[in-house]
Amino acid sequence: MTPDLMEAGAERLQQAQVRQVGASGGRSPGYGRIVVPGEVDVTHGRILYLEDVSVSFDGFKAINGLSLDIAPGELRCVIGPNGAGKTTMMDIITGKTRPDSGQVYFGSTIDLLRHREADIAAMGIGRKFQKPTVFEQLTVFENLELALAADKRVASSLAFRLNGTQKDRLAEVLETIQLTEHVDRPAGLLSHGQKQWLEIGMLLTQDPRLLLLDEPVAGMTDEETERTAQLFLSLKGRHSLMVVEHDMGFIRTISEKVTVLCDGSVLAEGTLDEVQADERVIEVYLGR
Ligand SMILES: Nc1ncnc2c1ncn2[C@@H]1O[C@H](COP(=O)(O)OP(=O)(O)OP(=O)(O)O)[C@@H](O)[C@H]1O
Ligand SMILES: [Mg+2]
Repeated sequence: MTPDLMEAGAERLQQAQVRQVGASGGRSPGYGRIVVPGEVDVTHGRILYLEDVSVSFDGFKAINGLSLDIAPGELRCVIGPNGAGKTTMMDIITGKTRPDSGQVYFGSTIDLLRHREADIAAMGIGRKFQKPTVFEQLTVFENLELALAADKRVASSLAFRLNGTQKDRLAEVLETIQLTEHVDRPAGLLSHGQKQWLEIGMLLTQDPRLLLLDEPVAGMTDEETERTAQLFLSLKGRHSLMVVEHDMGFIRTISEKVTVLCDGSVLAEGTLDEVQADERVIEVYLGR
């Protein structure tokens, strides 16, 4: 059997299992909790869980026995030298890259390694790449509207017509990303920082449980960086965030727990002060 067919089979099996869970109203009576299919189960206090994940590219271990977990509502910062594997880790979580070994779970029941990239996004993991990818000719509002309609449930039930709830949601997102007064401007006329916020807003229209943000303040002015810090602080709690950045001032403003990645695994974890005082971290990263 080809790997594709095996994967399709495994996926059907899992869907069948999910249906069964739905029919019985709970995953396992022994756990004494109800699991709704498609809902992320965070009863174990983790929204994301990676264990002993490894991936090699042409014999080079880009990710090497990586384990980490993130709590619901947490804002986790990830730092580390170039080539540490930060972007590759996000590629693995979002289904873009398949690891050679290890486990990756969304909540305690969704095995992300069994799902494709588009399904993972639809399940509530939003990803922001470094370069903004907004539609420059469309207005801010149209960009957000498109992002909302990209959600299949919305597109099929509404034929792209927004109802009151969705209009309220877009208005709320516009406020959050502070672009309300630019709602009718073509996105191409926004500053670099505003385009980044618009793209974050496009992710927010889907109300993702987990947001992965790769170098979100690269290329921003100091003022834009500060506003982005406040934006992220306002998002935590309602969403869980994993933020990769090299800008230490920014990390200092937003961070609680910081994970230092090096050579594809966790080198240190703690508050920024703790990891900055760690000799190994100074040697590989901060002392540059
Ligand atoms: N698809 C790929 N094929 C081959 N090598 C890859 C691939 N993706 C990543 N790598 C290698 O894996 C290592 C980790 O890269 P990654 O981009 O994850 O690092 P990073 O921590 O995001 O670095 P930076 O801070 O520069 O963005 C690098 O050596 C990179 O060249
Ligand atoms: Mg990177």
